[in-house]
Amino acid sequence: LDKFCLGLEPQTQVRFTSTTSALKAQTEKKTAKAAKESRTFQAIQEERKEEAERSVLISCPPKINEKKFLDYLSKHGTINKHFFYNSYGANAVVEFSSRESIASLKESINIPAVEHEAAVPFKSRLLSLKWPGSQSSNHPMPKFKEQSPPSINEITQLLSERDSMDEQLQCLTETLQLTEENISLRFLVCSLLRDIAGAYFPECIIRPFGSSVNSFGKLGCDVDMILDLDGIYATSQKKGSGLSLEYQVKRGASERAVTQSILSVIGKCVDQFGPGCVGVQSILQARCPLVRFAHQPSGFQCDLTANNRVAMKSSELLFLYGKLDPRVRHLVFSVRCWARAHSITSSIPGAWITNFSLTVMVVFFLQQRNPPILPTLDRLKELAEKLLQEFFEFYGNFPFNKASINIRKGKEQTKPETTALYIQNPFETTLNISKNVNATQLERFVALCRESAWLLQQKEILKQSSDSPWGFAALLLPSVTSGAGVKSRRKRKLEPASSRIKNLLDSLKIKGGETVAKKGSA
Ligand code: GTP
Ligand code: MG
Repeated sequence: LDKFCLGLEPQTQVRFTSTTSALKAQTEKKTAKAAKESRTFQAIQEERKEEAERSVLISCPPKINEKKFLDYLSKHGTINKHFFYNSYGANAVVEFSSRESIASLKESINIPAVEHEAAVPFKSRLLSLKWPGSQSSNHPMPKFKEQSPPSINEITQLLSERDSMDEQLQCLTETLQLTEENISLRFLVCSLLRDIAGAYFPECIIRPFGSSVNSFGKLGCDVDMILDLDGIYATSQKKGSGLSLEYQVKRGASERAVTQSILSVIGKCVDQFGPGCVGVQSILQARCPLVRFAHQPSGFQCDLTANNRVAMKSSELLFLYGKLDPRVRHLVFSVRCWARAHSITSSIPGAWITNFSLTVMVVFFLQQRNPPILPTLDRLKELAEKLLQEFFEFYGNFPFNKASINIRKGKEQTKPETTALYIQNPFETTLNISKNVNATQLERFVALCRESAWLLQQKEILKQSSDSPWGFAALLLPSVTSGAGVKSRRKRKLEPASSRIKNLLDSLKIKGGETVAKKGSA
């Protein structure tokens, strides 16, 4: 797979004989872009991590004078990039071109004297800008970068303005996906956390995984982090004499027990020393022990795990699948958005299907296409129009009661146990990644798949309309047949469109009752 998507002839080798400088510049730009796009997953992660280590996060006064702010910081070195955003007030991320600038900056900063309380004197790269006196507002305000996704209502409206369903799916991905700034902020939060864990384990790295890096992340998704201690185990070369030294270490009963004890100490540290970290919970008895907390200056919900190499590999696998063709991501984003709109998935842990399971289900579905995923471009174009409908048909009729989903083999297999939904973990093949899902949640998913497939078969919703949601936007309206009861404000607001579909359903049920009955009993 890696070879397929990343091992293409590097376009850097293309030679251009034209001598015009415009053409040359254009070529260079294209070459740089191609080189950037063909980097491996590890190279991308490494570069972002390194950028984060040269960055600081600064809480700012609301009417910040951007020029003065940058002039002030530039005394410590060249600034590569910066951006402003809102989370409990104005904040700025500033990336210097060298790490020395951070050292120089830190030397000029004080621990604040706090009244009536005492401060933990921990020097992190999370800073506050004090601006003497009142600021004039005669200067232009900086642009604040959005870090939250639009509401379902806004999405529905935005999609309805598109010209085709294909464009709707593309627009959905572009609207929901993580922005460059948001990804930088995720890496910066990991890097800030690393500085805390680094007090105990100087060689450690905290890496983001999951949807922050697998290319399927949506603005607002949590930051999954791994405490990577592999650097500590790297052995130094032994020379000559036959003598050697080793560290005396404390021993734990098992790898799990050691992970729990490390996470418990780091959790305590994050809680008591970590600026901006609130609501710290150590969930050490979970199958995968973790420390959960909210990082207020970024607005991220974070889950820190350790000793979880498989998760990093899963993230890379999904990243590679996402790279195979843009339509893979379009399908994943639309299925995830549809599932969220109908409360098939939830931000609260429970018996629901998770986004990760849904993504693996999309991958499995694409492997089952005939011909299998990503054949010729012409065929893809044909498929793109139909994929979403076929996805719903596929899972609306999938024999969940007896078959399991296996993306290692790309085939359905007999379920090894009686859980409602069985999706084999591609790396730890004896485990089920959707063990938490109960029968009720699976039934809701299947019912909604059938309803959505059926709606798409009735070409009515594909007709462009300016006064009500159509195409994919119509699929996000509250369900009319499953009675799932997504009772919210948007229901009232979107009532006319919802009743339009209900009327359509009623009329079609009479006309096409047979089809419905057949699907219903499958
Ligand atoms: P969102 O956070 O919902 O956007 O998606 P996500 O892919 O990040 O999922 P989540 O935060 O729930 O989990 C983070 C990562 O942990 C996933 O991407 C997987 O790599 C891994 N993961 C989640 N659930 C399981 C599971 O049941 N088994 C295994 N092996 N890995 C899992
Ligand atoms: Mg996640």
